[in-house]
Amino acid sequence: MSGMFITLEGPEGAGKSTNREYLAERLRERGVEVLLTREPGGTPLAERVRELLLTPSDEPMAADTELLLVFAARAQHLAQVIRPALMRGCVVLCDRFTDATYAYQGGGRGVPEARIAVLENFVQGELRPDLTLVFDLPVEVGLARAAARGRLDRFELEGRGFFEAVRQAYLRRAAAEPQRYRVVDAAQSLDQVQRDLDRLLPQLLEMCRG
Ligand SMILES: Nc1ncnc2c1ncn2[C@@H]1O[C@H](COP(=O)(O)OP(=O)(O)O)[C@@H](O)[C@H]1O
Ligand SMILES: [Mg+2]
Repeated sequence: MSGMFITLEGPEGAGKSTNREYLAERLRERGVEVLLTREPGGTPLAERVRELLLTPSDEPMAADTELLLVFAARAQHLAQVIRPALMRGCVVLCDRFTDATYAYQGGGRGVPEARIAVLENFVQGELRPDLTLVFDLPVEVGLARAAARGRLDRFELEGRGFFEAVRQAYLRRAAAEPQRYRVVDAAQSLDQVQRDLDRLLPQLLEMCRG
């Protein structure tokens, strides 16, 4: 595949959506063809699975159900959107991907990593992101930003301990594979975060044009 697969990760309120737009603009103004998408979701069918995952419900969702729904949505997204875009040579900027599964279902819910890895290999084959930006910030700061945004989804209703585990899982993964990850200090002002992203841009463009 000739395109490049970049994922944006981090907890609620870290600035993934905001900075995904910013990065897309910076790349497009330099002539790069960018496709913006998100998980869970990214196709009409996968967005319906997203609703199942995010809508609070009286019936507790088993951790394995959640895990399988995440990967069901991902299989659809890969088949319909991500793989075709990469084949066309696009840069795909995806708001959350499998690192979020390791962080939320693994770190947060306690699903064993090995079980997630089985599904990762099954659904993705060899495909992994070329680059992953982890927007890192203290749990309270992210939760305050997410709360200010409006009604909380099924994950945002979780407690502090859950989000602390999510954060640590992201940081562990980034530390274990520093060539693939860049950790961005997302607690800074938006201007400062975007200055940090500007500094990453030459490297990104080089990878895109690789
Ligand atoms: N660095 C920042 N400082 C202050 N507020 C921010 C920053 N980055 C994003 N925000 C605000 O926080 C909220 C959540 O940002 P968003 O991009 O939606 O995060 P995410 O997609 O990671 O949940 C939005 O209202 C956004 O404007
Ligand atoms: Mg978002």
